[in-house]
Amino acid sequence: MMKHETVLLNEAIQYLNIKPDGIYVDATLGGAGHSELILKNLTTGFLYAFDQDEYAIKVAKERLKNFNNFEIIHSNFSQLKVELNKRNILHIDGILMDLGMSSFQIDDVDRGFTYLKDTALDMRMDQRRKKTAKEVLNTYSLKELTDIFYQYGEEKNSYRIANMIIKNRPIDSTKDLVRITDIVNKDQKGHSAKRVFQALRIEVNDELDVLKSLLNQSVELLNPGGRIVALTFHSLEDRIVKHFFKEQSASITPKELFFVKEEFGPLKVVTNKPIYPSEEEMNHNGRSKSAKLRAAERR
Ligand SMILES: C[S@@+](CC[C@H](N)C(=O)[O-])C[C@H]1O[C@@H](n2cnc3c(N)ncnc32)[C@H](O)[C@@H]1O
Repeated sequence: MMKHETVLLNEAIQYLNIKPDGIYVDATLGGAGHSELILKNLTTGFLYAFDQDEYAIKVAKERLKNFNNFEIIHSNFSQLKVELNKRNILHIDGILMDLGMSSFQIDDVDRGFTYLKDTALDMRMDQRRKKTAKEVLNTYSLKELTDIFYQYGEEKNSYRIANMIIKNRPIDSTKDLVRITDIVNKDQKGHSAKRVFQALRIEVNDELDVLKSLLNQSVELLNPGGRIVALTFHSLEDRIVKHFFKEQSASITPKELFFVKEEFGPLKVVTNKPIYPSEEEMNHNGRSKSAKLRAAERR
């Protein structure tokens, strides 16, 4: 079985501030590194763990086989409330989200997440879904492609890349796509297709919208004192988490009412600045280098 090296393991669990009898959610089970440590901190508590990837669930089941106070839910975390409500769970004591992909998704060449090998353009985290990166590349309009490369990849040559894609359709494999980004981004530092691949992945998996939905649902479910711990791996995700925490913790008392006691939104930010992996972790696990952890608590 392939392995995923858990990022910010101890820090994430420390910020979750686990009550041994609480109900917790791991929204991104993956290789179950975080879930395993949550379970070790629970006595009579219970963990619900979500993943939309079948392979991740297989790996996690094996790792967690000695625990029984958990349930794995094979679903997109955008279904958080629906799935918990089905199980009569209306409140939780904490939720962890370790966003993005696991190493075994990236390393499995057939999943099409890597630009380093020539492979089919898939990029679906949930293999039950229909839309693949290949479909996006071969059916979206020039404007749609330009927009996703620009917004989700922060790719400055988005129009030129989109234009070349349209002129060279069909785009059948990662090699076809990289040939185009190599021409347009020939002077760029790092891999020419890095930003375009990030954009496609976000589009195929609708990553930013489901993250916003997850954050909103988490606040509704949290008991007072319960925490959201979020690990992000690129600036677009981090910006969403940071703004959400800021907006949900801000004062809700109108300025004109300066004489009444000021009231605040439902969250209190626990990490004023993001927490980064230690140098030791970054040296040991290169994939942790872009990680940032933020936490907030329900008032
Ligand atoms: C970075 S990995 C998590 C690793 C895990 N914390 C560990 O320690 O092994 C992210 C996982 O979240 C899953 N995932 C990403 N977006 C998801 C979503 N919207 N719904 C459900 N699972 C998702 C991916 O399939 C992947 O397995």
